Amino acid sequence: MVKRLFRRKFIHHILEEIDIEEHRLHRALNAFDLTILGIGAIVGVGIFVLTGNAAAVHAGPGVVLSFVISGLACAFAALCYAEFAALIPVAGSAYNYAYATLGELIAWIIGWDLILEYIVASIAVSIGWSGYFVNIANSILLKFFGITLPVWCSAAPGTVPGAVINLPAMFIVLFLTTILVIGIKESARLTGLMVFVKITTVLVFIVVGFFNIKPVNWTPFMPFGFKGVLTGAAIVFFAYIGFDAVSTVAEETKKPQKNIPIGIIASLAICTLLYIVVAAVLTGMVSFKELNHPAPVAHALNLIGIRWGSALVSAGAVAGITSVLLVMLMGQPRIFFSMSRDGLLWPWIYKVHPRFRTPYIAQIITGVVVAVFAGFIDIGTAAELCNIGTLFAFTIVCGGISVLRYTHPEIKRPFRCPFVPLIPLLGICFCAGLMLALPKITWIRFIVWLIGGLFIYFFYGIKHSRLGKKMKHEKK
Ligand code: ALA
Repeated sequence: MVKRLFRRKFIHHILEEIDIEEHRLHRALNAFDLTILGIGAIVGVGIFVLTGNAAAVHAGPGVVLSFVISGLACAFAALCYAEFAALIPVAGSAYNYAYATLGELIAWIIGWDLILEYIVASIAVSIGWSGYFVNIANSILLKFFGITLPVWCSAAPGTVPGAVINLPAMFIVLFLTTILVIGIKESARLTGLMVFVKITTVLVFIVVGFFNIKPVNWTPFMPFGFKGVLTGAAIVFFAYIGFDAVSTVAEETKKPQKNIPIGIIASLAICTLLYIVVAAVLTGMVSFKELNHPAPVAHALNLIGIRWGSALVSAGAVAGITSVLLVMLMGQPRIFFSMSRDGLLWPWIYKVHPRFRTPYIAQIITGVVVAVFAGFIDIGTAAELCNIGTLFAFTIVCGGISVLRYTHPEIKRPFRCPFVPLIPLLGICFCAGLMLALPKITWIRFIVWLIGGLFIYFFYGIKHSRLGKKMKHEKK
């Protein structure tokens, strides 16, 4: 039994599998596409929405440091991700890395955890999108027709009095799901356009804000102490989630060994720089106490009287958040797909569309589940759960890199994480530290999810594992 739990895939078997024609995804993406995809997945609700609450309630202007701390955690994890992704360039990212290094049980746990990460990230992001959308729609409707959207259909129950269902959030999820079923290259093009819009928006904000900084707003720098900065880091960590989505499209990438590390590291570096500057400018423009607002970046511009800037940021945020959602929705089914291809989940999930070459069944299931939850729950619950799941995945990836260097020192690594085991160890410490800064209820929800997953594994996955069947067959 114990042996079954720790059976490992051979790396060359994983690579062989993706060459079977009927299961192959279409290879269309290059390094530039991946960097754009990474930025598309990264810059969104975290910087446009969560920064405000983190500064006002936890970190003060020290939110700049919060971004540095969570950025470091991600940088360590990203170097490990890049080594794995170059070595095992297949869909499923951390799940497959764990399968090859730490064995089937840990792979299952991580795959199940990644399903949670992408689903709850998609839910949180679609709710954030809906907030901005409703905001803009209401200003236009009010200006030209003197009306606003009905409250009952524009937010989840319990968030605003009279709200029953968040229809805009559900709509955007189902709309993007349709685009994703049709094909990856089209989606990458759309992402490119939205990334251009949001980077322009962020740059305009930085330039306009820079000339309105009053250094007095930066004191006190840490009004809630270093502990507040750490809690802030655990929250704004959400802003960095997404670079790992680059590795989930490895099977759709040309020369993945070279392009995936470039995509991961370049997109993370660009976003980290932007975030630190945005956080410094934002907290320098207005007092941190003013920032507890659903649209803090636009709100800060309004407060200093730059209304055109505020409108522009709102529109840019809607576009930016749309591209995050697109990538999150795209990443999840690829993990589903990998797990069912291995026999750990039901085989009907594992089907590529004959014409579009996309994992359409997994994509549709994801879209429907995300849409249903997005209609009825609040953004905070989803974002926190997403952070804990992602930090956990990062921790295992960092551990996996060290294990693999020890068990398989001879493998040719197209990209090597520098200073092993120091970097993975730092990654583990930073990620575990941020997990500990999250609330208890988030831990409970996360553990319940993992236990549910273990039930599925022990009742289904362990018996249907393709690796298990193969090993049995070879023994005979
Ligand atoms: N990093 C993504 C965002 O901030 C998930 O929306």
